[in-house]
Amino acid sequence: MRGQGDIRRILFICLGNICRSPAAEGVMKKMLADSPGGAEDFVIDSAGIGPWHAGELPDSRMRKCGARRGYDFSTRARQICREDFGRFDLVVAMDNDNVRALHALTRNSEDREKIVCLADFFTENRRYTTVPDPYYGTERDFETALTLIEDGCRGLIGWIKRGIE
Ligand code: 4NP
Repeated sequence: MRGQGDIRRILFICLGNICRSPAAEGVMKKMLADSPGGAEDFVIDSAGIGPWHAGELPDSRMRKCGARRGYDFSTRARQICREDFGRFDLVVAMDNDNVRALHALTRNSEDREKIVCLADFFTENRRYTTVPDPYYGTERDFETALTLIEDGCRGLIGWIKRGIE
């Protein structure tokens, strides 16, 4: 991987790209925009491991959960492709199944070094090691996922900015 301070293009990954990764994309964009230095230099995107929901808006439960915290999650789902590893500096997975599926798509060691888990950047919720999939869960599971995503994005921004300083 390049130095952490060089990371500008970040792709968030989950299974369907309708719950967790579009939320991470929206949270990251807003946190960067609100941070000193802003979001201008950054490219933030998300994609899913599977094709099932391509073209769809995020799940209405996650959209509602986000709206209550001041986010607008309104990107359209897409499936990841091999070429994404060339387009992004960091590929951020929500859980270990995502990591395994991503590894199967990589072309070389440079690609593999770009894969991290959002949980690696948690600071307030270290007892969690993933962002659990809320799709078959309750409203509370969506709230938990969004809380973890906010924690991870805050930690990720801190890590990148420590590399810039
Ligand atoms: P996501 O959640 O990976 O956070 O977008 C899911 C969305 C859809 C399915 C599973 C998880 N699904 O099985 O269709």
